[in-house]
Amino acid sequence: MNDAELLTLPKAELHIHIEGTLEPEMVFALAARNDVALPYASVEQLRNAHAFADLPHFLDLYYACMAVLRTEDDFADLAAAYLRKAATQGVTHAEIFFDPQAHTSRGVDLGVVVRGLRRGLDTASSETDVHADLIACFLRDKPVDDAMTTLDALEPFFGSIIGIGLDSAELGFPPAQFAPVFDRARDAGLHVVAHAGEEGPATYIWEALDVLGIERVDHGVRALEDRALLTRLATDRIPLTTCPLSNVRLRGVEKLSDHPLLDLLDAGLVVTINSDDPAYFGGYIGDAFIEARRELHLTDEHLRAIAQNSFDASFTAS
Ligand code: ADE
Ligand code: ZN
Repeated sequence: MNDAELLTLPKAELHIHIEGTLEPEMVFALAARNDVALPYASVEQLRNAHAFADLPHFLDLYYACMAVLRTEDDFADLAAAYLRKAATQGVTHAEIFFDPQAHTSRGVDLGVVVRGLRRGLDTASSETDVHADLIACFLRDKPVDDAMTTLDALEPFFGSIIGIGLDSAELGFPPAQFAPVFDRARDAGLHVVAHAGEEGPATYIWEALDVLGIERVDHGVRALEDRALLTRLATDRIPLTTCPLSNVRLRGVEKLSDHPLLDLLDAGLVVTINSDDPAYFGGYIGDAFIEARRELHLTDEHLRAIAQNSFDASFTAS
């Protein structure tokens, strides 16, 4: 398989934050449209700020750039642009995270966010044939009460989302405290996932599995530190949505050739490759497949298995 074939190999994207697809060019375009002042003089200056020490450092810029997202059209444009781009990289199905609290806390109405995103996805879906679903994530570095209030506010939109997730700064914010929120979401028939083991320890993955009842682990690379956990993930076929380019940019690993993707595959886990926040981390999902192949010497068999895993791990398969 050459790079062009790998780029367009059919795949499902299961770990993508729609706000992480906000390219610097769109930041400037939306800032102009909405009269929002930016602390950067140019697209180049903003792109030059894409050098991160760790996850919290990245999140500072990620949340700051969201200030330009104000209207339903803004969210629709963002979602449509992502899906069109994804279509060029082999994505036929996408399960897309969004961060409701990052918008409602700025005074943006939740309906504006959900209706805008759904409209943008529908527009691009009809052009590209890429199917797209939404997953609402709660910010784990905000109080549990805030997540519960947000789940209440999401209830009228349950028909527009397929699940909930947990994201934002991980270290010091173990998952278990969010059990009441996840219990309610599961009772409502929503799928449940959580970021765990990105920067946080393997114990956070155990908690997310046993206390939150998650169906997939987002990232999960630190599972490798715990043999019993690897056995559990393999036995129960709990997928990991890894994001190799993200782990390099946020310094979970020093370089892509150090990424533990192959070790996780060798341990028998259902591993997928995803893009996380491609506007910030230097590539979309097809780029991630290509770079991972180059640096980790993945075979065509590995790559086809990883692409198949993405469909098996998707919620359309369940
Ligand atoms: N929100 C956006 N990207 C994230 C990541 N990589 N980890 C946790 N929260 C996020
Ligand atoms: Zn993520």
